[in-house]
Amino acid sequence: MCGIIGYNGNENSIPLVLEGIKNLEYRGYDSFGCAFEGKDNNIEVRKDTGRINKIIETYGISSEISNKSIAHTRWATHGGVTKANSHPLLDCSGKIAVVHNGIIENFQELKDSLKNHTFSSDTDTEVLPHLIEEEMKNGKSFEDAVISTSEKIKGFSSFVVMNSLTDNIIAVKNGSPLVLGVKENGVFVASDVPSFLKHTNKVVYLFDGDVISVGKSGFKVLKSNNFGKHKVREVNFSISDVDKGKYRHFMLKEIMEQQTLVSKLVNSDLSYLKSAASAVSLSKKVFLVGSGSSFHVALLAASLFRDLGREAIAVQPQDLLNYSKTIGKEDIFIIISQSGETMDIIESLPIIKENKKIGIINTEGSSLANSVDYFININAGHEKGVAATKTFTMSAILSCLIAMFSEGEEKEGLNDLNLLNINLYNLFVPSVYNAIKEAASAIKGEKNLFFLGRGTDYISAMEAALKMKEITYIHAEAIDSATFKHGPLALISKGTYSVALVSDRFKDREINNLKEIKARNGKIIGIANEKLDVFDFLIRSQPAGIFSFVPQVIISQLLSYYVSLSKHIDPDHPRNLAKAVTTK
Ligand code: F6R
Repeated sequence: MCGIIGYNGNENSIPLVLEGIKNLEYRGYDSFGCAFEGKDNNIEVRKDTGRINKIIETYGISSEISNKSIAHTRWATHGGVTKANSHPLLDCSGKIAVVHNGIIENFQELKDSLKNHTFSSDTDTEVLPHLIEEEMKNGKSFEDAVISTSEKIKGFSSFVVMNSLTDNIIAVKNGSPLVLGVKENGVFVASDVPSFLKHTNKVVYLFDGDVISVGKSGFKVLKSNNFGKHKVREVNFSISDVDKGKYRHFMLKEIMEQQTLVSKLVNSDLSYLKSAASAVSLSKKVFLVGSGSSFHVALLAASLFRDLGREAIAVQPQDLLNYSKTIGKEDIFIIISQSGETMDIIESLPIIKENKKIGIINTEGSSLANSVDYFININAGHEKGVAATKTFTMSAILSCLIAMFSEGEEKEGLNDLNLLNINLYNLFVPSVYNAIKEAASAIKGEKNLFFLGRGTDYISAMEAALKMKEITYIHAEAIDSATFKHGPLALISKGTYSVALVSDRFKDREINNLKEIKARNGKIIGIANEKLDVFDFLIRSQPAGIFSFVPQVIISQLLSYYVSLSKHIDPDHPRNLAKAVTTK
């Protein structure tokens, strides 16, 4: 995925889009570019590979002045990470510039049709400015040229176009997110709200199929399937969501926020979960769908549903087709997604079009939020660290609460939530940080790490291993302790490190498995509520009933964070990754 932003207004647009694009860096960060109005009706482009600050400094963009500009931060899909492939991309005349987020599936066919045009990149995006140029050559206005171009492309794509000869910029939304930020004397269009939040909290979420003209003092809907619904509304995001505050990294800030988020949830009115929970209780089977960390949430909640006696299946979206013949009309789907943009899920929606859907999603106005019958806002605030931390925890808690509410266990669910809230105070204490840092220093040189657990502890282990892989590049693998003896035990030799997640529920059996590792001189870091003889090292977790996975996962997030720091990796921007996965 990529991040895009444009501004048209009475102020100098350049510092506004530069600041905005920095806030969008979580969406991609392999190259960056900006286009603005130069002298003599020309478009000036500054772009390069590398991180935004470096490029701003190298090209002196901050000293330029222009009332309208567009900018882009890229996560490469079509075409390598090169300066030529960075956005914005221009037409032959240099008067039309485009920034794009998405994939144009029929770009080759379109490129072949543009015989007299000169292309300068390997990207799919570059067909857009040339198609618009071609349509205008054939007599269409800028607006009509963008509309007919948007109708020619296939696949999910949102883009913003600037034309040096017109006063407006034009935004097209299809699949990837776009939102307008409306100020008194200027309008933003961007991939998300926090990118312009310092300047306005008045927003308009765009719909798929929209073509919008962004003027200096307002916007005009040129084409839409939702005419009349483009209402300006105020969002209650907090500016602190956009800043690192006192923390060195967003990831650390977001890990630390989890305690406050849980305590806020305990003190909030949870009746909004009830209609979703009643829909679940009327259903036959529950399918829970998510990718990556959100799939781990699905696994945790599905396990709880089954414990409570309801048939529940956690599925990754790419496997949904395989289940299609087993899905009945009375089955309900719970979709979990931080971004609300994960393409694997969006693509699988036609398979479940007849079914009721609950979305546990952190992004209001996102494609998935707009596709479900019951939207449950994760309300974790904006998450900028690429690795999911607070959104994992909060979506898992909400999914489990829906399970408890739907099965008549509301009181028990709330009691456990209270226990979690209290025990998180015991978790965030210096002795635990010190133990985590010590463990991080012991494992930082490892090439392989095993995360072990049984039952839901194994699901926590899967999430812990994913975090470790993402931000430390250590090969970390979660293995169900019960299956260790069926093969993986062969990997253990003297000094091999395993991290065992042991909650009270699975402790007795787990100890037996861990002894088998000790007998082969393997080393064990325990994340548990008490010191066990099999541990070489303990990081003390806390009991929290059905939410015992929360302290375990928070510890493992911090463990990965400190290993990442000791390996001089930037945990907010791990290599090759982006925050929302909008590719297939
Ligand atoms: C892991 C991580 C990813 C996401 C996955 C799904 O730290 O962030 O595995 O969980 O890409 O993303 P969403 O939740 O946005 O659908």
